[in-house]
Amino acid sequence: MRRYLISGNWKMNTTRATAVELAKALVEGARAACDKVDVLIFPPAPYLIPVQDAVAGSAIQVGGQNAYFEAPGAFTGEVALEMLQDVGCQSVLIGHSERRHVLGETDSLINNKVKAALEKGLQVVLCVGELLSEREANQTEEVLDRQMAGGLADVTAEQMADVVIAYEPVWAIGTGRTASPEQAEAAHAHLRNWLTSHYNASVADATRILYGGSVKAANAAELLGQPNVDGALVGGASLKASDFLPIVEAGVSAAG
Ligand code: PGA
Repeated sequence: MRRYLISGNWKMNTTRATAVELAKALVEGARAACDKVDVLIFPPAPYLIPVQDAVAGSAIQVGGQNAYFEAPGAFTGEVALEMLQDVGCQSVLIGHSERRHVLGETDSLINNKVKAALEKGLQVVLCVGELLSEREANQTEEVLDRQMAGGLADVTAEQMADVVIAYEPVWAIGTGRTASPEQAEAAHAHLRNWLTSHYNASVADATRILYGGSVKAANAAELLGQPNVDGALVGGASLKASDFLPIVEAGVSAAG
């Protein structure tokens, strides 16, 4: 049985004070839920330490939104994987569509980050997803195949135990236009088949595939009810406890 993972990507939002306040509200509000589902938040890098302090002693996990693959050194502006670990992070988000399309990250850079993070023993949440133009041109599966093959090149079946995939159609991110449960399920089933053919059935069966893109309390239950949807990566609706906690609860209900 795959354990549901409900994650919140805070992106470049919050202040130190609101980040700590939000983290504390999640500790309170998700205490019981954490017995049933994993809850993972990705605060901005400068707030990782105060947020880690705020969740200390709870089951809420904290990860980095990005990291560079090289060992600490002369890489101005970057955050090393070792630094994330040093402040208590066990997970890192890699290849988010904003990193790909705003910051220009390629599959090859993403692959370097994935491999380096796995070598360090971090859990990787690898994001994939097509643009609207690609969906309209019927290229969704081709794009997903390319991003999976590129991002996971040289990643072994054993290492896949630390990989979570997040399917995030770019046209659904921050737009209020959620993929329908059928669209999400079709893409997730395709990704799971990809894992079967490139690894094996047990890797495909064990790997969690999250949906992301305008997830909110009103649509979470239906999305999480799809057989191949194992959790959510939530952006906008992760910034308020009153929006995020009902999504965590939808995960608890889906977990049964
Ligand atoms: P959204 O963002 O929930 O605001 O659409 C999702 C994401 O980018 O992870």
